[in-house]
Amino acid sequence: MNNLIAPSVLAADFANLQRDVEMINNSEADWFHIDIMDGVFVPNISFGMPVVKAIATHAKKTLDVHLMIVDPDRYIQIFADLGADILTVHYEACTHLHRTIQAIKAAGMKAGVALNPHTPIAVLEDCIVDLDIVCIMSVNPGFGGQSFIENTYKKVSQLRHLIEFSKANCQIEIDGGVTDKNANALIEAGANVLVAGSYVFKSDNPIESISDLKAIVG
Ligand code: DX5
Ligand code: ZN
Repeated sequence: MNNLIAPSVLAADFANLQRDVEMINNSEADWFHIDIMDGVFVPNISFGMPVVKAIATHAKKTLDVHLMIVDPDRYIQIFADLGADILTVHYEACTHLHRTIQAIKAAGMKAGVALNPHTPIAVLEDCIVDLDIVCIMSVNPGFGGQSFIENTYKKVSQLRHLIEFSKANCQIEIDGGVTDKNANALIEAGANVLVAGSYVFKSDNPIESISDLKAIVG
């Protein structure tokens, strides 16, 4: 499988957002990762619809939207209209997860579920075949720039086994603390999409940092 890099716009310079979006367009990155935080599900507020609209106006690659919000069903159609290609909701934020997944697909998007670091892979046993992507949080969601949680590797291989056992067609995305130091081990464990915020945007040369990650993941 082709392994993908998804720079997280959360770490971009919002005063130069168009410049940073064009940088991703011109890089070897595969997706735009867009973090939406509501200050309720997570202790931080990121940005909302007008900013997503601005990103979507200039972005020329897949828009991978990660909702860290309570009751995400309220916004599924809105994100579809804004141009999201993938919409990921949190397992911990959905009472009727199966219904939410179906609603995302009915709105024409790929459906993803994210798991917090404390949430076991086993909770996905009964919906894995319906999912296009599972996002394993390798930090507690809410902030960029945190340290990678090592227990993630174990979860990646458990998820890879679940996908194979269930004959599901589902990508494994890792979000949080991804760098050139852990990228290869994550791919070896079975991941195929790596989100990277600080590693890309806090580097001296973001385009080169994206190329470096791409070279590692193959
Ligand atoms: C964390 C977000 C991540 C974050 C990753 O809540 O979901 O996507 O932007 O940033 P880094 O790569 O800096 O950990
Ligand atoms: Zn994210």
